[in-house]
Amino acid sequence: MIGDKLFKKMIVTYIVIILASFTVLGFLMTILLTNYFNYNKRSELIVKGADIAELIRPILLENKDPTDLVAWLNRADRNLGTEVWVIRPNGTVITASAHQWRHEGDRINEEEIRQLQKGNVAIREGQSQFYSEPVIWVTTPIKNGNEVIGGVILYSPVIGITETLKKTWLLFIYAAFATLLFSVLVGYFFSKSVFAPLEEMDWIARKIANGDFSERLEIVSADEIGTLGRSINYMADKLEKLEKTRREFLANVSHDLRTPLTSILGFVEALQDNKDKNPETRARFLDILHSETSRLIRLVNDLLDFTKIEEGVLELNKQPVDIAELAGKTLAKYQPILKEKGIRISFESSGNAVALVDYDRLEQVLTNLMDNAVRYARNRIALKVSQEIQEIGITLSDDGPGIPGEDLPYIWDRFYKVDKSRAKGAGGTGLGLAIVKRLVDAHNGSIDVESQPGKGTTFVIKLPAGGKNLSGA
Ligand SMILES: Nc1ncnc2c1ncn2[C@@H]1O[C@H](COP(=O)(O)OP(=O)(O)OP(=O)(O)O)[C@@H](O)[C@H]1O
Ligand SMILES: [Mg+2]
Repeated sequence: MIGDKLFKKMIVTYIVIILASFTVLGFLMTILLTNYFNYNKRSELIVKGADIAELIRPILLENKDPTDLVAWLNRADRNLGTEVWVIRPNGTVITASAHQWRHEGDRINEEEIRQLQKGNVAIREGQSQFYSEPVIWVTTPIKNGNEVIGGVILYSPVIGITETLKKTWLLFIYAAFATLLFSVLVGYFFSKSVFAPLEEMDWIARKIANGDFSERLEIVSADEIGTLGRSINYMADKLEKLEKTRREFLANVSHDLRTPLTSILGFVEALQDNKDKNPETRARFLDILHSETSRLIRLVNDLLDFTKIEEGVLELNKQPVDIAELAGKTLAKYQPILKEKGIRISFESSGNAVALVDYDRLEQVLTNLMDNAVRYARNRIALKVSQEIQEIGITLSDDGPGIPGEDLPYIWDRFYKVDKSRAKGAGGTGLGLAIVKRLVDAHNGSIDVESQPGKGTTFVIKLPAGGKNLSGA
């Protein structure tokens, strides 16, 4: 299933993103909290240090031992939340909290003594051997005027920080899990809505691959998936149409080939059987044989031409051609049949309409259009060649039954016939206009059609003008 793999990928991505962001946030939080706690503790110790320095100053000034006061202060530890030592300006400890000072006293370092002697408050942060929490030392000078007569060291663990950090991390871990759970749920429903259509598309694509174009997707969303769905439906439409045309073509070509071939066979057999037939009958049979064979050749040529054009291997031998002259010559070929059908023709040309074209191919274009016009016209055909500044226009109109609007976009498709029954009798294969369109395109021209059912049809070709007429009049 498509959904499963994508869903797994999505969930893994979620997990990575969520864990990464929570870890980063957690570390930021740790730094923030630590700073906050330390800052508070430091401020507190600085204030207390100044207070206690004031308390101890008179004792030092009188050269008395501050041990009692400090002992008392240290007993009030719980109240104070700190330990108190008193030192001399050179760093030697006068008095310290009873049980620790030997160890902690080692930590009064040179830098602090220097700061003390300068009369500055020194602050040091570190890890105690006795507390699980970080500790802060604040050394406050005891001054008499400008003279430093001693120092008070306040030493205190940053109470609560470890606990708070632990809780914060725990909270973060819970939150991360909750978020993960939530995102998996959301992801699950989201993936349902995304993957269900994808699976349907997969299913339809397989059907199409197997030649079944009948299924269509039900499009619900207006997003990219909906767009993809519409494209697939469009593709199925096109393929279905193509397939239909292909079938029709096979049927048409088989029919178109079989009809003349059957009649050829019939006439050949008749000629073989009745050797004594009179010469007129034989001549008539041969005429029919000739025209049927020509029809076959024409059909096969059309098919070959079309394939060549489609494969892009058709070579155009372009030269400057007087289009009006070419149109006139093409018309002349149709005089007998026009006369026979009683169709009047009007031909109009202006200026010297020279274009760079392949003479034979353009003649083929005009012939294919004339074939249709002659087949469908009732009374009249009008051909006009006009010269404009940049282009040559060829307009061919007839007063035939016209082409219904809904068929117009398709008449350039190969094998497309508006009225299948009508065209069959007339012997068309539906390749004529397809060839015309592709040949005009190959000449960088354009062809348009206008048609009013019941009134007639007009084809307009535009070719880029250019070149000198070398073909001779
Ligand atoms: N002048 C026209 N008037 C009415 N219908 C036309 C006209 N020209 C073409 N059509 C319609 O367009 C269809 C396609 O024309 P096209 O020339 O491609 O094929 P065809 O004439 O049927 O076959 P072919 O040209 O290969 O012998 C025709 O079958 C016909 O129904
Ligand atoms: Mg035709």
